[in-house]
Amino acid sequence: MLKRGIRQKTSRATRPRRAGKTPPAPWRKEIQSVLISRRQIARRVRALASQIEKDFSGADLVIVALLNGTVFFLADLLRQISLPLRLDFIGVSSYGGGTEPSNLVFTKELRLDVRGRDVLLVDDILDTGGTLSRVSARLRELGPRRLKICVFLDKPSRRDGQIQADYVGFTIENHFVVGYGLDYAERHRNLPFVGVLHPRVYTRRNVTCERKASAPGH
Ligand code: IMP
Ligand code: MG
Repeated sequence: MLKRGIRQKTSRATRPRRAGKTPPAPWRKEIQSVLISRRQIARRVRALASQIEKDFSGADLVIVALLNGTVFFLADLLRQISLPLRLDFIGVSSYGGGTEPSNLVFTKELRLDVRGRDVLLVDDILDTGGTLSRVSARLRELGPRRLKICVFLDKPSRRDGQIQADYVGFTIENHFVVGYGLDYAERHRNLPFVGVLHPRVYTRRNVTCERKASAPGH
């Protein structure tokens, strides 16, 4: 069922329709279920691209994407946006290999000048909001004409602050998910769907994961 997202002018976030499908055989050991299928992703990314195209028509657009989780989403999204644009990346690392946020480390700084330009900041997932709050504050200091945020996934139940995205692919429950760019300890990014990570993966190899006791949420 389609549900309205947080910022309705620009985003019609959807909730995954058929959660809980068994993943394809090669992934079954580590992935509990398919949360969002490739077809659902493709359809939703097309819709987002078309909305962004309308909203930024005539703008001096700079896409600023966060590494590394955005790579799949970004590539699919941008190929469907028929507008002149510039693209740059900011590198941040917010997970120390587990499923809980740790200190944010900037691993790559922005190179393009965004002063007076229209910036669309793209990230894989808005979870507690810590990463995007800090990155967007840093970008605002550079004087863009406007700054909008686009995320592939949104987990509003985990939010720790006011930050919201202007464009949301899917709003999801409090699961730790992987695939389509999202990782757990740098693995699983190449899944063509979004899957819920099996808790046995992080209970087995990550003794520092505080939330393992509260599985199956994360
Ligand atoms: P936040 O700062 O808590 O909003 O976390 C944002 C970052 O945490 C994202 O860019 C992801 O790299 C990572 N993250 C948060 N939730 C998940 C998840 O469910 N799976 C994989 N990575 C996640
Ligand atoms: Mg990550």
